[in-house]
Amino acid sequence: MCAGGWSCVFFLIAVALPTPTPPSLRAAADHAGILIGAAVRPEQLSEAAYASTLAREFNMVEPEDAIKWEVVHPAALSFDFSQGDKMVDFAMTHKMKIRGHTLVWHQQNPKWLTEKKYTSGELAEILERHIKTVVGHYRGKIFAWDVVNEAFDELQPGKLRSTIWRDQPGIVMAGNEAASSSPAHSTPSARSSQQSYAYIERCFRWAHEADPQALLFYNEAEAEVMNPKSDAIYAMVRDFRQRGVPIDGVGFQMHIANLHPDVASVSANIKRFTVLGVQVHITEMDVALPVDPNGNARPEDLQLQADIYREIATACLSHPGCTAIQTWGFTDKYSWIGSHSKHTQGAALPFDRDYRPKPAYAALRNALGSGRR
Ligand code: G3I
Repeated sequence: MCAGGWSCVFFLIAVALPTPTPPSLRAAADHAGILIGAAVRPEQLSEAAYASTLAREFNMVEPEDAIKWEVVHPAALSFDFSQGDKMVDFAMTHKMKIRGHTLVWHQQNPKWLTEKKYTSGELAEILERHIKTVVGHYRGKIFAWDVVNEAFDELQPGKLRSTIWRDQPGIVMAGNEAASSSPAHSTPSARSSQQSYAYIERCFRWAHEADPQALLFYNEAEAEVMNPKSDAIYAMVRDFRQRGVPIDGVGFQMHIANLHPDVASVSANIKRFTVLGVQVHITEMDVALPVDPNGNARPEDLQLQADIYREIATACLSHPGCTAIQTWGFTDKYSWIGSHSKHTQGAALPFDRDYRPKPAYAALRNALGSGRR
């Protein structure tokens, strides 16, 4: 071990010193001045490893499903905040920020809403009441909301999807500020796109009335890179900013299944939105890998996954307006990817099913550690 003399002294000092513990993601993010979040399932908070990992590693949480319509608004005249409140209590105990998800979406809506035919006026009343009740309930606690989620249609590039809120029958017919307040000098095509996303504008205005301090985000899938969908969102956000519609940010979900994403395009896209004066949050990151029947991924894919986490975090950190990086869950034990891919994909998150950090964890932490700004 040592031949004697000073070398023995140094050896003994080295073995006596505790191995430095690397900082958590949370400590690295605090140091870098960015939020690091995870989507949470409140029913798992009673599991010790789930709760301790979450509180140690993250400074922000978001309910994965707990305050979506079907959970929080189960009947026309009743609201159920029990799951959401559980998560909020946990977050406040552990001094974590809370994002809200989501006030308007075409999925996970209750049958009482989707199966009955309402008039535009009735739908507008229902939606206004929903937004104001939910945002009002969490006023001062939820600091940022995904007001509208996935309003653009992946099958028709750049176009809004058809939903009860937009055109089936849509709330726009109930009267809208955007349609009537179009600037006289705007072009016919600008006016027509304003009218088509007028319902989105209404939602932002209602949310702002319910909590003027909350940051209001538009959240979207598959718009992380420069493409027709992100172009359309960019045009909408620019128009909102020009007309004083209360929008503060854009959420890019970042569900990645292609192991060679175009990170330069992600970075350019983040940049153009922050130049508009809105924040960007990465809201739902995961990197799905092919898995065997036991849910295990190949080591080389875990390394590629780590590279992607590092590169996306670095891209965000390089733009001061990109202020949060959030993963969709944090342990492979509870990721949505498995059940939604018939268990052919998985292993998408920084912690494995036993809460052990994966290469993606170290990569993310290293990116945060070198990203002070
Ligand atoms: O609530 C029922 C429960 O009663 C039932 O026993 C169980 C049986 O499968 O299903 C439960 O519903 C599930 C629900 O999540 C609540 O956990 C649904 O099956 C399941 O399909 C649903 O999946 C959610 C999905 O949104 C719905 O599209 C995922 O957990 C959630 O991670 C996912 O999240 C979305 C974001 O909100 C928006 N962006 C995309 C992202 C991934 O799809």
